[in-house]
This record gives sequence, C-alpha cells and structure tokens, in this order.
Amino acid sequence: MRTIEWHDNAIHMIDQRLLPQKYRVLVCRDHHELAQAIRDMAVRGAPAIGAAAAFGIALCAVRSQARDSEQLLAELDDAAREIAATRPTAVNLFWALDRMRKRAEALRGQPVAAIAQALVAEAQAIADEDVETNRRMGRFGAELLRDGDSVLTHCNAGRLATVDYGTALGVVRAAVEQGKRIHVYADETRPRSQGARLTAWELMQDGIPVTLIADNAAGYFLRTGKIQAVLVGADRIAANGDVVNKVGTYKIAVVAKENGVPFYAVAPTSTIDMSVPDGDAVPIEERCATEVTHVEGVCIAPEGVAVANPAFDVTPHRYVTAIITERGIVWPPFREGLRRIMGMEANDETPGA
Ligand code: MRU
Repeated sequence: MRTIEWHDNAIHMIDQRLLPQKYRVLVCRDHHELAQAIRDMAVRGAPAIGAAAAFGIALCAVRSQARDSEQLLAELDDAAREIAATRPTAVNLFWALDRMRKRAEALRGQPVAAIAQALVAEAQAIADEDVETNRRMGRFGAELLRDGDSVLTHCNAGRLATVDYGTALGVVRAAVEQGKRIHVYADETRPRSQGARLTAWELMQDGIPVTLIADNAAGYFLRTGKIQAVLVGADRIAANGDVVNKVGTYKIAVVAKENGVPFYAVAPTSTIDMSVPDGDAVPIEERCATEVTHVEGVCIAPEGVAVANPAFDVTPHRYVTAIITERGIVWPPFREGLRRIMGMEANDETPGA
C-alpha cells in the first residue's frame, strides 16, 4: 500500500513507529486521531504529513453534523488549528492545510455533503500529485547520477516519507529504473533512527543495495572517496536556499563540501517557503528527552541528565550544490532560481502570482 491512503471514510497509514520489526496499518477514524498520529510520528516526513493533514480535514468534513456550510467551515478551521499544532517545521503541513481551506471556502454556501465530497477529492488529489511530483523529481535528479555511483542519504526521504516513491530515494529509484547501478549509504539518524529503521528497510524491500552506517561514520566515507553524491530531502527550504532538514544534515553538508562531494536537496515546491528569508526564521521542533536518553525503551544515559533534542537543523545555502524540484533543478544563485521556479516576478512577494 501507499504510506497513507483513504478508504471507507477513514485514513489508513503504515505505522512507522513499528517498522522494521512489525508492519501494521493504523486506521484513523477522526481528525483527532490523525493529529495524534502525526504528533507521535506514526506518519512522518514532510510530504507524507502534508497529505495526512489534507486527509484529516477531509475526515473532519465527512464526519461533520454541521447544519450548513458556515458551521462546517468553522469546524474545519478548528480541525486545521489542531492539526497545525502537531509539528512546526515541515511547511508541507501548513501548505496542505491552506490548500484545503481555500477549496472549502470556494464552496461556501453549498450543501455540507457536497463540500465534504469535494474535500475528499482535494485530499486525494494532493496525495496523487505527490506521487507524480516525486517521479518527476526522480527523473531530473537521476541525470546527476552515473552508473556505479554511491550516494549518502540521511534520515528517511523515501516512499515512507511521502505518499509513495520518495524524494531523495525517488532520485535513486529513478536512476535504478534507468539501469544505473547505485549503492546507498544510509545514516542511522539518531535519535529516532529513521535511516536504520525506515531507509534501510524500504531499500531492501526494493532490492536496491544499501549499507547502513553509524551517523558518526559519514565523514569517514565522504573523505575516503566512497561517496559520489549526498541526496537528502527537506522539511522547508527558505527563500535564500537554506535547507532545513533532519538534524545532522548540516554536518554532512559541510563535510561533503570540504571533500568536493556534491550535496543535493530533493524537495517538491510545496516544501519551498518564500515567506521565510533564511533558515534561521524557520521554527525548529524540539522533541522529548527520552528520544535521546532511551534506545528501544532502554535508558542509556544517567538518570536526570539534561538533554537537548532539536529534530532539525539548517544547512546554509552555500553548502548546497543544487535543489531538485518537480519543476526542474535549481542551481545557485538560489534566491533568483527559487523565485523563477515559484513563478514570482522580480518585485513580487507572492509565490505563483
Ligand atoms: O522527523 P521526520 O522523520 O518527520 O523528519 C523527516 C525528514 O527530515 C525528511 O528528511 C524530510 O521530511 C524530507 S522527506 C521527503
């Protein structure tokens, strides 16, 4: 199945907290359960939580007992606020909620059931477009890889982080589909180990060669010429090209540049936030201490130790070789390139205007 699907007025998702030990499908029957699933990271990854948020709004609409569209729109606003409060960094969540709100508002005055059906269709369109977007990015990005290359990736930017196919791993998949032999080095990605649990699992499912390495080994492999490119996803890309992604990405980007290895961020345009001037303006999620102090439920740190656990970091654009989007590859200077790809004119502050 896809990472997230809509069936019988419920949201079905692969429960990513349990992989790779258990493959279970979690079913959310109202938007409160959906919000909890995002917060707990049963579903995670920027494009996947965008699609999840959209389905959450659709679910709120189909379950609503509202008398008229005014009441329904007020309920949808409350649901959007609840879902928006789950995770602050990945902009796809807010992008999807905004798109759903606009669709609902355009139908103001229509019967409640008609609005609900339109919102289900809109959420499904967001999910379907995500898959197509990933395939397009894959085709663009695959041109940058040669037969026999090894790439390093961080966290999970694969099919599990999206509706299907993946962003960074979508590029790998596309290159493999073109007949290139690609080897992936996957960072374990402490503290939640998305690289070990999810990236390694999904690549093995597809028969794509993958070697799992400890986070601290990335520098060794970059310096010894074993890696020809770094491919990562992004949770938000600022107007100047700064890339906000899973904590640890920055360290990899710096070492990649030091060793002349290209560093590519692979992200749909829904991850690009032209309203934030640079990465420092992006809120960085701080997650709970036990993610750091515990491994698989076992405490590995002295009781009472102070812990800091930022879930993301900022890679300044000077370390980014290119940004691969579904509309093409953006090279430096990023400010101009991103404006062009987002359809903004020289003095225009509104994306797509
Ligand atoms: O905390 P997570 O697992 O949601 O973080 C995911 C990442 O950082 C991914 O690299 C990012 O969302 C891009 S996924 C296509």
